[in-house]
Amino acid sequence: MANLELTTAYREAYSRINGLVIVGEGLADRHFRLLAGLLPDEREDLEQLAAMEGRHARDFLGCGRSLGIRPDLPLAHRLFAPLHRLFAEAIRAGDRVSALVIQCLIVESFAVAAYRCYQPVADPYAAPILREVLEDEAEHLDYGERWLAAWFPDVAAPIAACCERALPVALAMLQDVRDDLTVIGIDPLDLVGEFVACFEETLEKVGFQPRQARGLVARLAGRACHEAAPASIESC
Ligand SMILES: [Fe+2]
Ligand SMILES: [Fe+2]
Repeated sequence: MANLELTTAYREAYSRINGLVIVGEGLADRHFRLLAGLLPDEREDLEQLAAMEGRHARDFLGCGRSLGIRPDLPLAHRLFAPLHRLFAEAIRAGDRVSALVIQCLIVESFAVAAYRCYQPVADPYAAPILREVLEDEAEHLDYGERWLAAWFPDVAAPIAACCERALPVALAMLQDVRDDLTVIGIDPLDLVGEFVACFEETLEKVGFQPRQARGLVARLAGRACHEAAPASIESC
């Protein structure tokens, strides 16, 4: 995709989405390092995951640069602030379950869903990067699933409580950029659908029954869509 072919609307939307991706990856790097402080026995593994996230942030910065587009980082920091605040509160409280649910289940499911939806419309520079990043994100999901599954069912109620707080916050962020997603070729409802499928699968791997996972996600996803855009509740 040559720079000249990009419309102003595309460049502006891409700048905001690319900023969100770069800040999300940078925060994931910080989150895994903070998790390493809570789980000292797993420090080495968690620092490796953090390093992968740092690499993703640099790779996606390169994607914007290859198109001659600067990411809107200040906006992305503002949009990520509520979710990052929830994560930081969990870390301060020594709440390992909530910290793992927010980063390893919610953020990683979002990353997987977003990158899967972007793949069909990605430019030739970004396409191979997305393929590699998706493999890494699957590994990060797997890390959280295995850790939480080892403590299931003791952690079932705390996981559900954390989802109650954090899932609507994450879904509201998506609503904030729905127009930009459309401009770069991603249907926001496809992205919600992909996220819901990915998150239900992850809850099942942790130990929830399919019916419980479906119920939890459907209720929270529906509520978040309704709060952000009442008119679109039926399509969510
Ligand atoms: Fe990542
Ligand atoms: Fe990740």
